[in-house]
Amino acid sequence: MKDKKSKIKNYLKDFPESDEIAQKLIDRCLFIRFLEDRIERNKLKNLLENRDVKGFLDLFDYYNDCLNGDLFEEGDIPTNINKQILVELNEIFGKHYKYKDNQIALVPYQFDKIPILLISHIYENLLKRKKRNSEGIVFTPENVVDYTIDEVFKSEFLKNKIENNNIRVLDPSCGSGIFLAKFFKRMVKEKKIGSQDIHKKSDLLQKSIYGIDINPTALRIAAFSLYLEIFDGLPPEIIKKEVIEKYEAGGEHFMFPGLKEKHLFNWNNVPGVDSEKLLKFLNNNLKIEWAENADIKKSDDGKSITINKDSNSLIIKLIGEKNKTILEINGVGSPEYILKEENGELNTYKENNLINRNSLFEDNIFKDEKFDLILGNPPWSYKEFSEDEKRKIKEKWPDVSNYDSSQCFLFKIEDWMDEDNMVGMVVNLSNFTNQNALIFRKSFLEKYSLDKFLNLINIKKITFGSGSEPACVLIFNKNHGVEKNDIGFIIPDMTQFSELTEAVRQL
Ligand SMILES: C[S@@+](CC[C@H](N)C(=O)[O-])C[C@H]1O[C@@H](n2cnc3c(N)ncnc32)[C@H](O)[C@@H]1O
Repeated sequence: MKDKKSKIKNYLKDFPESDEIAQKLIDRCLFIRFLEDRIERNKLKNLLENRDVKGFLDLFDYYNDCLNGDLFEEGDIPTNINKQILVELNEIFGKHYKYKDNQIALVPYQFDKIPILLISHIYENLLKRKKRNSEGIVFTPENVVDYTIDEVFKSEFLKNKIENNNIRVLDPSCGSGIFLAKFFKRMVKEKKIGSQDIHKKSDLLQKSIYGIDINPTALRIAAFSLYLEIFDGLPPEIIKKEVIEKYEAGGEHFMFPGLKEKHLFNWNNVPGVDSEKLLKFLNNNLKIEWAENADIKKSDDGKSITINKDSNSLIIKLIGEKNKTILEINGVGSPEYILKEENGELNTYKENNLINRNSLFEDNIFKDEKFDLILGNPPWSYKEFSEDEKRKIKEKWPDVSNYDSSQCFLFKIEDWMDEDNMVGMVVNLSNFTNQNALIFRKSFLEKYSLDKFLNLINIKKITFGSGSEPACVLIFNKNHGVEKNDIGFIIPDMTQFSELTEAVRQL
């Protein structure tokens, strides 16, 4: 697949974002194959076979329109891509999957039989080794995720909360969303939501699952995996009837909930090329219907935009230090939006469940919000912090040793925790063994109440791999009750069945 990606990239070399476009084409095809194989459709396969570039790009708009307005961003794949790209994609996603040396496989991939989590594996595989190392991207093995989630579900407190309410779960470095997707699946089961109840699943997803990652591709994959979880276990006829046929007949039909942070408009380009985007947003999202064709003016200092039509008017103000946009409608106060500085320009976003940001250094992410559970596997021993970031680490978390990234994450998450909230995190074991991490450990144990410590050192082979850095799983909270000093310390060992089952279990 990596080889295919570089071939596709080569056909896109005239476009500045060739890597991003190649990646998008592959992960969109992957998503569509997962879906079409479930509903026994061959649209993608036929378009690839016929090298129909227009039909192929239109298929993205079709699914976007049918399933959710932000499944695939509109207009971000050039319309004049080379036909040869479809030849390459056809060899992976077409009727006859070809593997090495152009041999046609006897059994083409059937994506409906492949676990959804394969999406994440493919994503990790496609990333360049350099990028993987520099951003600390390591896919968490399924058995470690399962163990962590099982442990979390042992908490009666959390279990009751899940049964009776919608809890909010955050993965602050969610990658392609394995923790979130698996937790969501488990929650659906615990809440006894039927696999056919897509509306309930969708509602639960939107109310409960939150993720942050610095890498936009990872978030795209996380959204795909979560969306596919909604359809998991659903008979093909229902998807066809409730979604596709109703959509094609122009009727009300099921749509995936919006998960990704939404780009609204570029502040610098209003008035200008983004004026229409702004007016569309006001009309569609905030139901300000009069905004259509309204006049737009920006103040001389560039800090507010006024929108006028007949006797109606509203003001959008930049408030605070580039991190908030306040929308003031006819003097009545109102919602806040996120403003990000990108390539010297200001972009406005609507915060949502999956957020593309730096969890460590941007303070306004889920500001003042608390989560019932924090799960994840933050980057370990990441070594490429800028001087400015190092200065911030020293200032914010002086007890972090050697600028260790997972230690920063362990301290950062405190912002999103209350006394009762739980954490299940996978980090490098060296945080708890290295001599120079002594101050970190002291501070960690003072701040939190460690409930379980699972040392994975002896089962590296069936978890992160023999050559990897040893890891551990931490289950903790901030509840400094009587049992604060009672820590469950577990070191699982390989047994003769370990390699066969790959199960991480307490013995
Ligand atoms: C070790 S991977 C784990 C991914 C995922 N949680 C999993 O278990 O498969 C770490 C993730 O952290 C992301 N990341 C690295 N630095 C980050 C930062 N400062 N803020 C948010 N995400 C970050 C990377 O893009 C990567 O997806």
